[in-house]
Amino acid sequence: MAKSSHAQWSSRMTFILAATGSAVGLGNIWRFSYLVGDSGGAAFVLVYLLCIALVGLPILVSEWMIGRRGQKNPINSLAELARKNGSSQAWMIVGVSGVLGAFLILSFYSVIGGWSLSYTLSSLTGDFSGQDAATIEGLFGALLGSPGMLLLWHTIFMALVLGIVAFGVNQGLEKAVRLLMPALVVLLVILVVYGMFSGHFGEALSFMFAPDLSAFTGGVVLAAMGQAFFTLSLGMGIMIAYGSYLGQEVKLLGAARTVIILDTVIALLAGLAIFPIVFANGLDPSEGPGLIFVTLPIAFGSMTAGWLLGLIFFLLLTFAALTSAISLLEPVVEFLEERSPLTRVPATVVASFAIWGLGIAALLSFNLWDFTVLFGLNIFDLLDTVTAKILLPLTGLGAVVFVGWVLSRESVEKELGLSGGAATAWNIAARFIAPIGVVLVFIFSF
Ligand code: TRP
Repeated sequence: MAKSSHAQWSSRMTFILAATGSAVGLGNIWRFSYLVGDSGGAAFVLVYLLCIALVGLPILVSEWMIGRRGQKNPINSLAELARKNGSSQAWMIVGVSGVLGAFLILSFYSVIGGWSLSYTLSSLTGDFSGQDAATIEGLFGALLGSPGMLLLWHTIFMALVLGIVAFGVNQGLEKAVRLLMPALVVLLVILVVYGMFSGHFGEALSFMFAPDLSAFTGGVVLAAMGQAFFTLSLGMGIMIAYGSYLGQEVKLLGAARTVIILDTVIALLAGLAIFPIVFANGLDPSEGPGLIFVTLPIAFGSMTAGWLLGLIFFLLLTFAALTSAISLLEPVVEFLEERSPLTRVPATVVASFAIWGLGIAALLSFNLWDFTVLFGLNIFDLLDTVTAKILLPLTGLGAVVFVGWVLSRESVEKELGLSGGAATAWNIAARFIAPIGVVLVFIFSF
């Protein structure tokens, strides 16, 4: 994307598609379902939904607003607005930590994107057809145990992301999202219906929606908040960048509602598709990051034409992962382009190469480097934890505090087109509910 000439989205629809393309990704299907399983189900889901509504919505709108008002890249937008409002240049840190976070997230994101690619091929070659649960678990174990295979798929995924960003064909991909997203929803619905008839659907429902009080631990609450940030692509400056290409006529609150509803529905559908299969096959819901790669092939393996459904599903998942990955590489590339002599293509290659290298450390965590480095976490878990649970919430907190307390109240209300009770509600949300929510989760969990 152009950085200083300040191009604009061609329409409100393109903007919403781009934001949804960034938001909907592995986070909704892979990460959401494995965390629900890992964190004991409904308590996680409930806190997650609360965080989306009370924290995610105000922060999403705040990030867009900073971009639209600043009309620059995330770091400069913050610096400019801070200067205009007589506040400290230190606000730039919010933008800088975004670039760092995007770099760290993409390194492990690409490893999982690689799993999705690998499963696309396995579906095509019929590896799962007619296999029992144990065999399918074994196939996943074999993939994890092979550094060479993981490296191959991680490399292919990262090369695809590099190619798309270097040649600037994001636009085309974003148009494709218009078709692929509904297709993904349809496939998830098919899987949910399959689960209703062949899985333990009732058990899955109560697992996901009937919380037990003892399950609300600090760890679960923090994980749920981290997931809310991760799934909405918050706290990385990405939404600030998207906001900077946005025309004044687009209503931020309405657009945020659309993106959030789509994102949340896809995550919940994924859960409703996966857990009936987990319980029907006696699998362990807290199996970890491999959850969807074990459960879904079991379902596909036992359906008629399941290989075809599996193929389409993993292909769609890979596309969703690619559109999100692009949104993670873009800020790192822009940063290099601006702060180094590199032009776009070399900057993309350098950034991708560095991310790819860190990704190798992440993928080795599943086999050769299967040891803990810090706080009982291996490198993969550490990258995931530091970004989602710490960096994203802190950066997002910075954005909403900036909009709530630094920008003038009148200008924000004008920007949102709010007055009277609605304006008061927004102010309470941006000044108090969202920031206090994030801080409370931190206090509760440490
Ligand atoms: N939201 C994406 C997902 O759910 C991942 C992602 C893309 C992301 N861009 C981001 C996460 C920026 C945090 C910040 O898969």
